[in-house]
Amino acid sequence: MKIGHISDLHIFRLGNPRISEFFNKRLLGGVNLLMNRTEEHSVGVVREALTHLQKHDVDHIAITGDVTNLALDAEFAAVAEVIAEDIPDAAQRVSVIPGNHDYYTKDAVRARRFETHFAPYMTSDLPSYQLETGYPFCKLRDGVAIVGLNSGIATPWFFATGEVSEQELEATEALLDDPRLEDRFVVVMVHHHLVPFEHSRVEYTRRLVNAEAVLHTLRDKDVDLVIHGHNHHFATIEIPHLTGNGVMRICEAGSTSMSTYSDPKFGGKYNIYHIEDGHLDRVETHLYEGEDLGFVHWRERTFEKTF
Ligand SMILES: [Fe+2]
Ligand SMILES: [Fe+2]
Repeated sequence: MKIGHISDLHIFRLGNPRISEFFNKRLLGGVNLLMNRTEEHSVGVVREALTHLQKHDVDHIAITGDVTNLALDAEFAAVAEVIAEDIPDAAQRVSVIPGNHDYYTKDAVRARRFETHFAPYMTSDLPSYQLETGYPFCKLRDGVAIVGLNSGIATPWFFATGEVSEQELEATEALLDDPRLEDRFVVVMVHHHLVPFEHSRVEYTRRLVNAEAVLHTLRDKDVDLVIHGHNHHFATIEIPHLTGNGVMRICEAGSTSMSTYSDPKFGGKYNIYHIEDGHLDRVETHLYEGEDLGFVHWRERTFEKTF
């Protein structure tokens, strides 16, 4: 089983928003975008990554949030269009979770904008564990269980924190105990990082506020792999399970849509996870090297089966 991982697309589309939609935190985000970021994140680079993932024959594509910039309807529609057009059999093969940018304002959260646009990719094979919010959802595919969590919350100006609600964490614990997961390789998708990001000078304002509790639950339930976004930075971390039974790996590829970089760890990237016989055999990382070269094979890490 091969899972492709893309994240932090940050697609910016203004559409025809009402002026009142900018009488909030979007005013700051919108100005910041127009001045700095619109050029860096490119929908063309995302489409190229999806073409590559098709060529690599991945079975499933996981998208770990921040698909938009300002959680505007036009942005969600643009991303939904790319998924539907570029990924064959997307309803079966795609899982998407929200990031803090997709929950940018209380209005966007209340209107369930993210969930409305991406409903086909959030269906669950174990629906009895889903809260009214739709999380956690779980896809059972070929010896693997893919669990989608939501860490998005509407935050005040200058904050990009996240939180997995207490009820959602309880439901996730129960889901991870379900006997149908027992013999499967378990992948958890969550937007925010679970361990402090060493390159951040503002970790306090962009952290997962209950990271410790989430990490404890996932380690306790022998989760095999956590994939996330948010830092726009490549990382693979290994942490032992609390049961003393193997390790949990935590991986981020980066922001897939980045068209330029000064440090490749922050460049546009996607990951492919090769899962064989209930074990993460290797992680392949591909880096965007500009229009001429496109995505190139950048790094690969293989893991021995020890348990
Ligand atoms: Fe992001
Ligand atoms: Fe984020």
